[in-house]
Amino acid sequence: MSDSPAAGPPTLRAVRVAGTGSYLPEKVLTNHDLERMVETSDEWIATRTGIRERRVAAEGELTSHMAAKAAEKALEQAGLAPEDVQLIIVGTITPDTITPATACYVQQHLGATRSVAFDVSAACSGFLYALELARHSIATGAFQNALIIGAEKLSAFVNWTDRNTCVLFGDGAGAAVLLPSENGHGKVLSSHLGTDGAQAELLNIPGGGAACPITIDNVDQKLATLAMQGREVFKHAVNAMRRAAEVAIEKAGLTTDDINLVIPHQANLRIIDAIAERLGVGKDRVFVNLDKYGNTSAAAVAIALDEANRSGRLHSGDHLLLVAFGAGLTWASAVIEW
Ligand code: ACO
Repeated sequence: MSDSPAAGPPTLRAVRVAGTGSYLPEKVLTNHDLERMVETSDEWIATRTGIRERRVAAEGELTSHMAAKAAEKALEQAGLAPEDVQLIIVGTITPDTITPATACYVQQHLGATRSVAFDVSAACSGFLYALELARHSIATGAFQNALIIGAEKLSAFVNWTDRNTCVLFGDGAGAAVLLPSENGHGKVLSSHLGTDGAQAELLNIPGGGAACPITIDNVDQKLATLAMQGREVFKHAVNAMRRAAEVAIEKAGLTTDDINLVIPHQANLRIIDAIAERLGVGKDRVFVNLDKYGNTSAAAVAIALDEANRSGRLHSGDHLLLVAFGAGLTWASAVIEW
């Protein structure tokens, strides 16, 4: 019989963000361009959403291409070679194909031949769901590094004749490399995920799946495009993101006063302002770029994190709050010590 002490809970390694990257397609579609496509106005879009313009991928430019371009930048910043990547998780609702996963194409584009690659489908929360999965995969020692990506080609799934939705969305990709936190500085402190499948009907792409295949008879109905009950989603978004933010901050042992920068999902400036107000965080501590890109779903928080990083807004030791909300319904938050 051994007299060694009974094994306690496994020690989890701290995990840090070692690099970020983003990619936005070249083509800009302004609100004025949309005025020529549907009955809308720059004034309506700007005051109701805060969006001024968005990017649209070129024909043949796919979610996996944008994801790989963002990933290359994140890998370069982290000093990690593609062939050394062990895990790739792509958050997307606009995959290149239903199968295989977009992450498999990304692996191919990058030459990350030794990685395990798969997608998560959690809409706008996808990047933070990927962060949570990857963080635990590294924390347990199962993987030594991970490349997480949020990437979307929403322009392929938008009904360009529906003014209720087509003015809201854009294309793009953001990525981050996660590594074990060697010296204890820079780490993900906490996270929180949630799902409410009972509200799935509020925001979905009803057609194109097994439930409603696209047929010659229904092809005119544009069922493989985003459908949303905007007002209802708005209410859920404010409440769920506020709660998710509070839980992650509390789990991190912090208060909102300790948060240097909030990086929220970029869907609507009124949603962002409402959350900031309810949390008691001033606008100077909230990162906003939706005026340039619109709602890029899973890519939005990832792109914003990279822009905040590369524009010098993040300093060593800063506390960042990342928070997202999307179809599902899903929500997610994380507090990171930079
Ligand atoms: N231009 C002009 N008028 C418009 C437009 C437009 N583009 N779109 C809608 N309208 C009209 C409507 O028809 C309506 O007219 P009516 O009063 O005559 O019926 C009026 O404007 C008001 O419409 P609402 O839907 O009530 O407008 P609201 O202020 O709620 O704004 C919006 C709509 C921007 C969609 C908002 O509800 C919103 O941002 N919702 C949440 C979006 C979100 O967070 N999505 C989650 C993530 S997305 C994802 O997971 C993929």
